[in-house]
Amino acid sequence: ASTLGAQAAQSGRYFGTAVAAYKLNDRTYTTLLDREFNRVTPENEMKWDATEPSRGSFTFGPSDQIVNHALAHGQKVRGHTLVWHSQLPGWVGAITDATTLRGVMNNHIAGEMTHFKGKIHSWDVVNEAFADGGSGQHRSSVFQNVLGDGFIETAFRTARTADPSAKLCYNDYSIEDWNSAKTQGVYRMVRDFKARGVPIDCVGFQAHFGTSGPPASFGTTLANFAALGVDVQITELDIAQAPPTAYANTVRACMNVARCAGITVWGIRDTDSWRTGENPLLFDGGGNKKSAYYAALTTLGGT
Ligand code: G3I
Repeated sequence: ASTLGAQAAQSGRYFGTAVAAYKLNDRTYTTLLDREFNRVTPENEMKWDATEPSRGSFTFGPSDQIVNHALAHGQKVRGHTLVWHSQLPGWVGAITDATTLRGVMNNHIAGEMTHFKGKIHSWDVVNEAFADGGSGQHRSSVFQNVLGDGFIETAFRTARTADPSAKLCYNDYSIEDWNSAKTQGVYRMVRDFKARGVPIDCVGFQAHFGTSGPPASFGTTLANFAALGVDVQITELDIAQAPPTAYANTVRACMNVARCAGITVWGIRDTDSWRTGENPLLFDGGGNKKSAYYAALTTLGGT
């Protein structure tokens, strides 16, 4: 096939992109979106500060726009994200009582998932909960500090009840290298969840890479997580300067693992990227295919 999404589908995978609601009236943008991609992640619109800016009052305007556009164009949606220490409204960060915060967290998960029930393929239930560096432990956050280690398990159990048909993912960055303490920390959590029957279906590897692309062990990491009985997904791919070889290596790592369900890039054109000036995506600012695009397409098996 001659597009990323159609070619990925030939091996039962998807190829997705992050989408910003305010760009949906840009014709260059939507032409590329609807031609090349069959999975969509709202870049900011489903985050807590966007969906529950004050306690108990939910707003879904921009997120509904993205979901409705996607479903009208045969694209499935990754929900991003329910519990994250960043883009969190101040009123949540100010809670110091565990019973209150547990209720607020569960109400947020249930409220947002119920609104979108049946429309979201996979949810990033918890995002970026592990610390950088050598500890292999959770990072400091209001959830960790007030609720303790169990907050992640609580979030996943609440999510399963809210929409039993959605796949539930843990999503993080810098967990691509098998030989890193952060990767090992997440691996131990997933192994423990599977052993104890805590509902988890997938792990998202953000894959924000430097110019050299994925670490040599990325394929090993994907295979080892998949062997625990979860799908693995590449969820926010971008690579500084977008070297074609780096993109090819990333796509190949996914293609080599049966349970690698698909790849999402974190934006369409370089001008859509959060990494200003790094040109890390597959299309240039004018919407033209870059060398990295052809590297990704051919590594998927397309021409
Ligand atoms: O909405 C406000 C707008 O009202 C205001 O005028 C404007 C002025 O700066 O800011 C707007 O908010 C920005 C928001 O994106 C929406 O455009 C924030 O400042 C900006 O910080 C925010 O950046 C997002 C970032 O997450 C926040 O952490 C990026 O777009 C988004 O690409 C990025 O995505 C994250 C993933 O969710 C998780 N993994 C890492 C990834 C990259 O940081």
